[in-house]
Amino acid sequence: MSKFLETERLALRPPERRDIATLAVLFADHDVSKMTVRIPFPYRRADAEGFLSQAAGVRASGGGEVFVVARKPDSYCLGTIGLERREGGLHLGYALGKFYWGQGYATEAAGALVRFAFETLNEPRILASYALDNPASGRVLTKLGFEPIGTEQVRSLARNATVICRVTELTREVYSQGRHGARERDKRAA
Ligand SMILES: CC(C)(COP(=O)(O)OP(=O)(O)OC[C@H]1O[C@@H](n2cnc3c(N)ncnc32)[C@H](O)[C@@H]1OP(=O)(O)O)[C@@H](O)C(=O)NCCC(=O)NCCS
Repeated sequence: MSKFLETERLALRPPERRDIATLAVLFADHDVSKMTVRIPFPYRRADAEGFLSQAAGVRASGGGEVFVVARKPDSYCLGTIGLERREGGLHLGYALGKFYWGQGYATEAAGALVRFAFETLNEPRILASYALDNPASGRVLTKLGFEPIGTEQVRSLARNATVICRVTELTREVYSQGRHGARERDKRAA
């Protein structure tokens, strides 16, 4: 996979040592970690270091790509995003520090990764799931054209509990028909 993607405001780049301290602050917030499956609470520097190793391992094994979402031009880390090959296909996941919510960054970063998966990797579909009590993530996926295909129960490390997640998919067919954009335009026009 490519090591670097860019959008208007963001650079998606591999995590680096300089991101460890930042991630340790951003992901220490339970409001962030509780909405994810794999970010533990409490989140310590060692967890951020582990994230770097895990990202390198995923990349080395060809199992996907895990990026830091960095703002331009200073390349400061705002959060993380990744595509990982698991059972059923390529899974999209992301998390941003709370300071950076509500500015369209997740949609912008995930949109770039979706484009890359379909246009460069020729993937047939991308999966993503989100906890039912996480409407912001559901909205990001809806804006990108993901559609619900079911639910699953997943163990959340930060909650130390099982959460019910909605599973969604975006197929290359839907993506290439541009239906994701059309649906948004229809909604605005209604
Ligand atoms: C989910 C997350 C990545 C979204 O990041 P973001 O940069 O704020 O997302 P965007 O700004 O691109 O889009 C968020 C959308 O959700 C909407 N939204 C936010 N809170 C909402 C709520 N409580 N109910 C409904 N919609 C909500 C926003 O209005 C926006 O939609 P709009 O553009 O139509 O107005 C961020 O909240 C986050 O990191 N959360 C913690 C970790 C997490 O949830 N990761 C995903 C696990 S599946």
